[in-house]
Amino acid sequence: MRRAVYPGSFDPVTNGHIDIIERALALFDEIVVAVVSNPNKKTSLFTLDERAEMIRGALGERPGLRVVSFTGLLVEFVQSQEAQAIVKGLRAVSDFDFEFQMALLNRRLAPRIDTVFLMTQDIYAFLSSSSVREIASLGGSVHGMVPPLVEKRLRDRFGIAPATAPSHAQTIERD
Ligand code: PNS
Repeated sequence: MRRAVYPGSFDPVTNGHIDIIERALALFDEIVVAVVSNPNKKTSLFTLDERAEMIRGALGERPGLRVVSFTGLLVEFVQSQEAQAIVKGLRAVSDFDFEFQMALLNRRLAPRIDTVFLMTQDIYAFLSSSSVREIASLGGSVHGMVPPLVEKRLRDRFGIAPATAPSHAQTIERD
């Protein structure tokens, strides 16, 4: 059984994360998406449970996929899951420095666990949860950047009215 853990804050999950999960599912027998409380991020928009629930809702039931949340040391969690690898997404070269450092530190802590980097589709290279939060908090549209249910949760959280339907949709409704 080839099992990998894909950890992250996912606050909230973006279409870039979804793309990485789908790529990882094609490579491993089982992917455990681990919603982690990042001690370096003092504030969060959604609770760990809300974030996990949004990922489950966006992906639905899929064979080989589990979504859980945890607090603590990543490598200990990976060992508890009997996984062999950590999956990380890379968007741009700017991610590499930090991710390289984390991968080597994690290897130092647990030499038998490898980190596997997957690259997002180029259309998601600019996406991050922090920019999504910022855009949504300022009333901007994050359509296409996050799954539809996350878009709705962001609108609800920031009290933003749904975007006006395109004119052809209005016509269909009137008919
Ligand atoms: O989505 P993020 O915030 O970039 O994910 C970072 C995350 C959660 C993967 C990282 O902070 C992490 O691994 N946290 C768990 C605590 C830990 O093991 N820290 C040591 C890493 S060298």
